[in-house]
Amino acid sequence: MEKIQISLFFLTLLPLLSYSSRIYVLDKGSSISPNEDLVISSPNEEFSAGFQSIGENAYVFAVWFTEQLNDGNYTIVWMANRDQPVNGKDTKFSLLYTGELVLIDAGEITVWKSNIDSISPVSLQLKDDGNLVLVSYTNGEYIWQSFDSPTNTILPEQRFTRNSLLVSSRSQTNHSSGFYKLYFFGDSVLRLLYDGPEITSVFWPPPWLNAWQAHRSPYNNSKVAYLNASGYFEASDNFNFTTTDYGVGPRRRLTLDVDGNFRVYSLDKEMRSWKVSWQGALQPCMTHGVCGANSICTYDHERGRGCSCLPGFKMKTPGDWSQGCEAGFKITSCDPDASKFVKLNHIEYYGYDIGAPGVGSHDNFTYEQCVNYCLDYCNCKGFQYKFEPEKGVHTCWPKTILINGYRSNGFRDSIYIRTPKEYLITYQNDHVFDYQCSRNTTNLERLYYKKRPTQWLKAFMYATIIVGAFEILCLLIFLYKTQSPFKKTPRGYLQVVTGFQKFSYAELKKATKNFTEEIGRGGGGIVYKAKLIDSRVAAVKCLVEANQGESEFLAEVSMIGNLNHMNLIEIWGYCVEGKHRILVYEYMDYGSLADNLVLNKLDFEKRYQIAVGTSKGLAYLHEECLDWVLHCDVKPHNILLDSLYQPKVADFGLAKLLNRSGKENPSFSRIRGTRGYMAPEWVRNLPITSKVDVYSYGIVVLEMITGRGPNVARSSNGNDVMEQGSVVTWIREKMMQSAEDEKSWILNIADPALNGEFNMDRMKILIKIALWCVEEDKDARPTMSRVVHELLHSENDGKENSM
Ligand SMILES: *[C@@H]1O[C@H](CO)[C@@H](O)[C@H](O)[C@H]1NC(C)=O
Ligand SMILES: *[C@@H]1O[C@H](CO)[C@@H](O)[C@H](O)[C@H]1NC(C)=O
Ligand SMILES: *[C@@H]1O[C@H](CO)[C@@H](O)[C@H](O)[C@H]1NC(C)=O
Ligand SMILES: *[C@@H]1O[C@H](CO)[C@@H](O)[C@H](O)[C@H]1NC(C)=O
Ligand SMILES: *[C@@H]1O[C@H](CO)[C@@H](O)[C@H](O)[C@H]1NC(C)=O
Ligand SMILES: *[C@@H]1O[C@H](CO)[C@@H](O)[C@H](O)[C@H]1NC(C)=O
Ligand SMILES: *[C@@H]1O[C@H](CO)[C@@H](O)[C@H](O)[C@H]1NC(C)=O
Repeated sequence: MEKIQISLFFLTLLPLLSYSSRIYVLDKGSSISPNEDLVISSPNEEFSAGFQSIGENAYVFAVWFTEQLNDGNYTIVWMANRDQPVNGKDTKFSLLYTGELVLIDAGEITVWKSNIDSISPVSLQLKDDGNLVLVSYTNGEYIWQSFDSPTNTILPEQRFTRNSLLVSSRSQTNHSSGFYKLYFFGDSVLRLLYDGPEITSVFWPPPWLNAWQAHRSPYNNSKVAYLNASGYFEASDNFNFTTTDYGVGPRRRLTLDVDGNFRVYSLDKEMRSWKVSWQGALQPCMTHGVCGANSICTYDHERGRGCSCLPGFKMKTPGDWSQGCEAGFKITSCDPDASKFVKLNHIEYYGYDIGAPGVGSHDNFTYEQCVNYCLDYCNCKGFQYKFEPEKGVHTCWPKTILINGYRSNGFRDSIYIRTPKEYLITYQNDHVFDYQCSRNTTNLERLYYKKRPTQWLKAFMYATIIVGAFEILCLLIFLYKTQSPFKKTPRGYLQVVTGFQKFSYAELKKATKNFTEEIGRGGGGIVYKAKLIDSRVAAVKCLVEANQGESEFLAEVSMIGNLNHMNLIEIWGYCVEGKHRILVYEYMDYGSLADNLVLNKLDFEKRYQIAVGTSKGLAYLHEECLDWVLHCDVKPHNILLDSLYQPKVADFGLAKLLNRSGKENPSFSRIRGTRGYMAPEWVRNLPITSKVDVYSYGIVVLEMITGRGPNVARSSNGNDVMEQGSVVTWIREKMMQSAEDEKSWILNIADPALNGEFNMDRMKILIKIALWCVEEDKDARPTMSRVVHELLHSENDGKENSM
């Protein structure tokens, strides 16, 4: 008995010994210093306060989670002197007899103080929630608390108030104040501001939305926000969210990260690491200033965000993208003859346009006019030249700063950068950036024009960004004085904001003749044919399970609507009224791949082109790099054919729009997809990645090859039999059985409707790729862009063979 007690005693003591020595109270007249190895601990020992080393002989006085992470780091949640680290020697953090807290560096320099005196007896304590407080012995009041002055993190139950400000760290390793700030603006709306070395701009909520449009209320002046222990966040401006792991449980923190996004992290006790359980959901490259000036931001599904310099430029401060890039050349003279322009595709730069106030663009300019306009200004660094399909003209946007550059295959326009005439930039358009995105085929064809905000609004928006926060406030006040709250926003404006049209329910009711002509079902809704007022024929999809709020719906719809690719169905608009959540798509005359297969309308060549097109559409979805735009329900019914039998993938992005009953449901809590096309990960509860779409794609290709659904195979007696996944097994068996005679087994599995008329090389390629895509192990499957690459290569080979 005694032995047991002794060993228990040692067990509990050992972890304590490995830590610094702990105290729970710091009294008047006492102090701690960095070389003492002494920490103030919360009673539950979850938090510690004391000196943290942040570099060689550099310390901050901080509060951190006692739990050491698996990488050996501690998670700091508060710092007294982040911008002025102190020495290890002769440094003291003291509670003076006056009741003031001071941090004194090198014996004399006061680096930080609490600025509050108290003659009554007080002591410094660390509370269980991570709040470092100066408590009065007489009444238990907090005379000072660290929760009042957060650095980059707030903890559950910590009040974020009108006086609070979160400032990101400078970098992962440098804890001093960075460029991003989160606080309540004068109009009581919580916003994110980029306050960089060159520019200042608000980017969340999107600056082109006024408070009401962003679903914020500027009327509640209490300016308070907090995250509760269950993972529910609420701000007085009506902004609220729940984390994906909602519920009492893990330790959480909300941190404004180095990259300008703010995230809620939950502690995984077992792994001793933090997991993101919510984030500001900003498109990573839309965060202002993230790559600095003269650089390009790209986002890749697998590797995350990346920055690169414009060709001819190099990084200003290696290791620090926020400083951007500087030119490797000098434009020494303003002589127009000394400059030329280099064209870069698929890149857009926001803001800083030269033009009449409020109008950054110049409409109906020829390329030469735009060149000459830019050359007229010494400080013109280049220009964006683009076609505006709505106006039918080209517009010219000369720039004074090239910042907020974003590269996306969705942009069909180009930026032209100004360089000295004799300066040789050796690079090939479109290829120089390959190293960032693992795609070999960057030249996906694009026939669709991206619908963008019209010029006046853009100019207006940029002007607002430039003049910064102050101007935005004036504008907001103006907007909400001239517009009563809750009044519906004028349609034109919203259309501009989201890039497509908002329809009223009545309008769609009329267009669909009271929802009578049903053309499809599934994917979470019923699809009707409709004739719009402008006599366009549309497919109108009423979502039955979409139950999220209007703003969330709108945010997601506008993201989906921004994806433009010739192999994706185009969204024309949406309707959100009361319970109705409706999407309006272009109508496809030839119906779905499923219909066409049944009706036997597709020869092999068409099938092959459909496989190529579909893979391009999916590759674009995956590489457009919005993590959540996995398709998740790839099947022949969701691949529609235009009048040239070009495939267009439909229903993408719906995975997120549907089935999210909010609170306790993580995004992918429910199995979605269609039996037979679903990857094994769904059933086995493994992580869902873009490889689920690759699997489904493989099944679809097999269906085009064999003319048989995923669960149908031919038994030995020639009859069709149903069996889950049997098409794959069946083909693999056939392959094994007649390994030598390739031709015969291929003829054996090929859709009889093809009558043996197909290009054998292409057929082999299709089979190879399809089987590769349906590998059980997701890591063994190719990425969608790899599939595109393989198909295009084999296409070339095929041509060579036929010559
Ligand atoms: C701590 O964090 C930094 C920055 O994320 C990282 O570079 C380092 O490897 C981590 N581990 C240690 C032991 O410092
Ligand atoms: C951290 O960043 C600040 C601000 O840019 C800079 O002054 C300081 O030297 C940096 N500290 C380290 C250790 O790099
Ligand atoms: C957090 O807030 C939600 C919503 O108000 C509430 O249902 C929940 O009980 C709260 N959790 C805690 C731990 O206070
Ligand atoms: C303002 O917000 C606070 C905190 O969210 C809330 O308690 C209060 O009821 C709100 N006031 C009004 C008038 O909505
Ligand atoms: C949460 O946000 C939604 C959408 O903006 C809003 O409708 C709702 O009223 C908010 N809830 C609270 C409790 O503020
Ligand atoms: C654009 O300019 C050309 C030549 O100046 C003119 O003929 C044409 O009508 C203009 N187009 C528009 C849409 O203004
Ligand atoms: C891209 O193509 C090159 C050569 O064509 C090849 O070596 C490389 O593996 C390909 N990369 C990917 C990701 O497919």
